[in-house]
Amino acid sequence: MCPGLCSPIFLFLVWGAHWGLITAESPVTAQFGGDVTLSCLFLSQPGMNIQRLTVTWQKERAGAEALVVHSHYYGKDQLGRQDEGYRNRTQLDPEALAQGNASLTLRGVRTQDEGVYRCHVTSELGTTSEMSTLQ
Ligand SMILES: *[C@@H]1O[C@H](CO)[C@@H](O)[C@H](O)[C@H]1NC(C)=O
Ligand SMILES: *[C@@H]1O[C@H](CO)[C@@H](O)[C@H](O)[C@H]1NC(C)=O
Repeated sequence: MCPGLCSPIFLFLVWGAHWGLITAESPVTAQFGGDVTLSCLFLSQPGMNIQRLTVTWQKERAGAEALVVHSHYYGKDQLGRQDEGYRNRTQLDPEALAQGNASLTLRGVRTQDEGVYRCHVTSELGTTSEMSTLQ
């Protein structure tokens, strides 16, 4: 029932192996209290198995483990490990996901949201890691 994909070690290896394949984009500017969308596009194809998609959004922290901002796997949002500061404020568009778009909408932007975010997407077609800077 629970393939190797469940294992944190597997996920760590996937992220680690692809750490180098990162594309930097220009910073995204948000207004305090407003909403912002952090972009994350990945390779997809029609009929791709969405159940096998793993999406993780993290926020980097200096000298500490990255915060979990949003996760989605087995076809649904998995927010058990989401950092409290992001509760009820994040959204992935399921229809966009099927088309290779794992962009994250963050509502009610706060000062402490500023920083570097990474999305990691693993699908049948491979792994993508993208970085966004929010200011
Ligand atoms: C998140 O939303 C749920 C359901 O709407 C609510 O019960 C909960 O208090 C909210 N949590 C936060 C931290 O706002
Ligand atoms: C990706 O999805 C986001 C949020 O749903 C949307 O704002 C954005 O325009 C989409 N980007 C592309 C390239 O389709």
